[in-house]
Amino acid sequence: MKKIYLTSTSIADAPFPKDLLLWNYWDHEHVVGTHFEHYKKVKIIREDQKECLSERIAKLPLIPFYINERSLAVLENPNKMVVYHYTLFDLVKHKQIFEFEETSENSCKVKRSDFMEVPFFLKFLQGLFDKIMKKWFLEVWKEDMPMRERRFKVWKLGFKDFKGINFINNKDISSKDCVIQKSSEKYKLNLPISKVTNIKREGSFRLFKKSKHIGYGL
Ligand SMILES: [Fe+2]
Repeated sequence: MKKIYLTSTSIADAPFPKDLLLWNYWDHEHVVGTHFEHYKKVKIIREDQKECLSERIAKLPLIPFYINERSLAVLENPNKMVVYHYTLFDLVKHKQIFEFEETSENSCKVKRSDFMEVPFFLKFLQGLFDKIMKKWFLEVWKEDMPMRERRFKVWKLGFKDFKGINFINNKDISSKDCVIQKSSEKYKLNLPISKVTNIKREGSFRLFKKSKHIGYGL
C-alpha cells in the first residue's frame, strides 16, 4: 500500500542554555508529573549516552483515548535529537526531529519537525495532524518552562544532582564564590540522566494527579 507522511513544524525560543533544554527532553521522570495531562506512565527499557528506549501511555490533544507507545530517542549530534514513536502494533510510525540552535550562551531556538507515516488514503488528515502537533508542542512547552527555569536558577547557585548546593551543605564556603565560579562555566548535558524513581524497573506513574510540580512516581 502506498504510504505518505503527514508533517508539521513547530519552533520556539527559550532563555536557557541549549544543554539545559536537552536535559529537559532526556529527563523522562518528569513526564508523568509535569505533563500529567498527556502521559500516565513511562518506563525506560534501556538507555546509554546516546539513546533511550522507553514505553509510554500517552494521550494526544483532541484524541479522547490513551495509546501505548514505544519511543526511541537518539542524540545524533550535540544539536540534534531524533525520536521514533511506534504504536498500534507498530502500524503507526512517527518520527520527530528536534534541532537546537544556540542563539546566545543562555538562549536557544528549538525546532521540532514531525513526520507520521500513514496509508495514502489518510492524506486528508494533514490539516488535523498539523493542528494537533502544533497544539501539543505549545502545551508541553508551556508546562516545561517552570522546571527549566528552576533548574537554571539552582544550577547557577552550584546545584549538582544528588549532591545539592555546595554553600548550603558546607557553611565554610561563601555563596558569592560559588556564584562567581558558576558564571564562567557552561551548562553541560550528561547522559543518561541520574534517576530518583523506579522508572527503569516498574515504570514511573503519576502520583499527584493535579500537580505539575510534584508528580514523579517514587
Ligand atoms: Fe517536558
